Amino acid sequence: MKTESLTGAKRSEYRIAHISDIHFGRIAHPAIVESLVTEINDAGVDLVVVSGDLTQRAFPHQYRAAAQMLASFDAPWIVVPGNHDVFPWWRTFSRLFDPLRRYRRMITDDLSPQFTRDGLAVLGINSAFGRTIKGGRIDDSQRVAMRAFFGSLPDSTFRVLTVHHHLTALEALGDHDIAHEAEATLACAAEMNVDLVLCGHLHVSHVAHVQVFPSGHPLVIASAGTATSDRGRKPHKKTNFYNQIFITDTNFDVVEHQFSPEGMVFEEVRRSTFPRIVRAGG
Ligand SMILES: [Fe+2]
Ligand SMILES: [Fe+2]
Repeated sequence: MKTESLTGAKRSEYRIAHISDIHFGRIAHPAIVESLVTEINDAGVDLVVVSGDLTQRAFPHQYRAAAQMLASFDAPWIVVPGNHDVFPWWRTFSRLFDPLRRYRRMITDDLSPQFTRDGLAVLGINSAFGRTIKGGRIDDSQRVAMRAFFGSLPDSTFRVLTVHHHLTALEALGDHDIAHEAEATLACAAEMNVDLVLCGHLHVSHVAHVQVFPSGHPLVIASAGTATSDRGRKPHKKTNFYNQIFITDTNFDVVEHQFSPEGMVFEEVRRSTFPRIVRAGG
């Protein structure tokens, strides 16, 4: 992760770009990566969150392209791997025993990246393992890390969790896989007052407001479409999306941007606004 020193006065507004499923090796249009980077840099975001599947087959040249893209962002970035970032099935030994070796060497060694600013905290967790095929997995030690990270923050902090795979089945997305131990992880996120989950994997852009039971904690799940690849799925087949998120003291907006191949630019297509949860001491 690119880092920046924590300086300056208290901030009350933040802007995050959320991109996912880049899939170098299956890029949809020759200039789409450049368009994406330019737009995000022009937006002056405070952070870029990348929720996995940087590559199509975890090949070195695909990781080099991903590293180059990350280096071209002006803002700091935080990234988690996806299932396509582990060694492919024909590299059986590496896939089982060191599935993210190339990711760790060429992108980052940090598999639970953190970003904190005054009033904002983002945690990434890895759900991509060699032994799981598609749904991903999150284990107990990662939930312990989640509790330690979010539990140390002031109540008023806006809390974001990013993970490649989904933590719950969303009706609007039809039948889809969710991570192994997703339910326990979502319950942990609710317990730790997470406001927003940023994920990907399904290649469909969708924003959902869910309540996690039994606590009833409300939480927004922003599932980004594929930002740059030709692997978009129904209803977003052959379509590319990313999100911009605006956080103020009272609200937060998730703004879906869709790529227009005619204009070679991403355009705002949907804005979902949610009230901030006021917590004790917040
Ligand atoms: Fe993907
Ligand atoms: Fe994936």
